Amino acid sequence: MAATPYSPSNPPRKALTGSEPNSFGYTTLQSRLPVIVSKIVDDVYRTYHSLPDTDPLGTEKAQEAKSIIEAIGGLRYELQRDKPFRPLKDALPDVTEWNQTLADYYATSSWYKASWLFAECYLYRRVKEAFALTQYWRDYDPFFEQKQNVFKSSQKAIVAVAMRLMSPTDSNNHDNDDDSTNKDADRKVKSMSALDVLVSQGPESEGTKEAFFEMTQICLWGNATDLSLLDNPDLAKVEELQRRMLMTSSSSSSSNNSSSANLDKQAQEHVEEQQQRRQKDEKEASELEKHADKILKNDTTLLWEKVKDMRNGRVDFILDNAGFELYADLVFADYLIRAGFASEIVFHAKNIPWFVSDVIPFDFQWTLNQLYKAGDTSDSTPFFTPSDPAEQKALRDLGQKWHAYVDQGIWKVTTHDFWTSCYAFYHLPTLPSAQDLFKDMQKSSLWIFKGDLNYRKLVYDCHWPTTTPFTEAIGPLSNSDDNKERVPSLVSFRTNKADVVVGLEPGVKERMDKEAKDWMVSGEYAVISFSP
Ligand code: F6P
Ligand code: MG
Repeated sequence: MAATPYSPSNPPRKALTGSEPNSFGYTTLQSRLPVIVSKIVDDVYRTYHSLPDTDPLGTEKAQEAKSIIEAIGGLRYELQRDKPFRPLKDALPDVTEWNQTLADYYATSSWYKASWLFAECYLYRRVKEAFALTQYWRDYDPFFEQKQNVFKSSQKAIVAVAMRLMSPTDSNNHDNDDDSTNKDADRKVKSMSALDVLVSQGPESEGTKEAFFEMTQICLWGNATDLSLLDNPDLAKVEELQRRMLMTSSSSSSSNNSSSANLDKQAQEHVEEQQQRRQKDEKEASELEKHADKILKNDTTLLWEKVKDMRNGRVDFILDNAGFELYADLVFADYLIRAGFASEIVFHAKNIPWFVSDVIPFDFQWTLNQLYKAGDTSDSTPFFTPSDPAEQKALRDLGQKWHAYVDQGIWKVTTHDFWTSCYAFYHLPTLPSAQDLFKDMQKSSLWIFKGDLNYRKLVYDCHWPTTTPFTEAIGPLSNSDDNKERVPSLVSFRTNKADVVVGLEPGVKERMDKEAKDWMVSGEYAVISFSP
């Protein structure tokens, strides 16, 4: 594949920068990043002050903590004074490439003059440098506590989804009557979870399709609650977002209820019963319709056309945030396995703490462990504490199931420095340092990109007209004649949090500009964009 003519300082259209007044890039450099950086200082300060007096390395750790606080303070100063970027000083494996890129494209540039994408990625890499230069804090994640708190506040939504995935549809079924075939079938259905009932009829069934539309909604709206956008996470707001999200998923299932003909009778009765229950609240239904309207470009049907023909394929998730979003991604990944579309899922996490809430491998393992330990009384501080034993069991069973996927190699977690470089994804097929990653990812049937930053990197974070087709905006990653069979199909699930959106119908931008001024950045609107 020919190398792209574009570079970090020369994207296909004019780059988004922090120097454009009223842009989200400007707001981010001006107000959001200084707050994010100050929180790192608070976190390190709190952590080293809570070190036990008995810690034999306490003095060394405290000294290093002070050096980190100083380095982060210096970084904030450089950002706020728009100082030139300086080369990185640590010895991590990606440092040579970072410094070369700086020298090649931004030798005389600074925070507000460079592209917003470069400046923001550089900031998080500099944060890592402050920790990497120490001995005792080199693997410390200054965002972990924030990620954990927001995840905890998501408990209600997490439990609700776990029940649909794991809990028998009728756990009180003690029917001891004759053993007729119907009773057997009935009992079987009632012992299955709602999701398993839906997918039990095979990949081509209406139940499986219905579940697909539900799972994609959960996966999409999981991206609405990331921490870097919520400067001061209002946990009640997080809960409210999730409540709306779950209603959205119910709505999409109920909209398909006329075509459940292929389900066996018991399964169908169960599905109908559930649908009736969901439909009964008229008020909620109208709220749901409003929510579906918030997906300004929705390629879910095209994605379904692709997925329904896959059997035991490999799917790659390019992850975004930890917490509820990761949970939602795992739910979708679990669905793909149970429905038989995939037999291998590769999750791409970040190597270093990134954009506050992004998943690093520790978050992945930690999430599975907390589910597995739900309600565990031998643990003095169980993370999830639902009082209902059925809910506890659903969480634990889910944790166990997902652990088993990992143990059996069905789910794999991997990292690569490319994901925390400043490079847009245009460079994935040709950047020398990303060749191993690209070659491996070519074995996949489908790439799923989650979240806003991944979207910005897909479309090179520049000023595209909003009606530009997605397949044009992703350049070398679209499956054009040139690269046929070289790049698998891909989809982006993204709630809008930056001033770049493509793939919209004519007139949508103009309507949205009137209806909701901040529609590009509030995280309330979304796109699901597919490239075949
Ligand atoms: O700081 C700006 C930004 O890159 C936005 O585009 C977005 O608000 C956030 O950071 C990251 O969002 P996501 O976690 O969805 O990639
Ligand atoms: Mg993120």
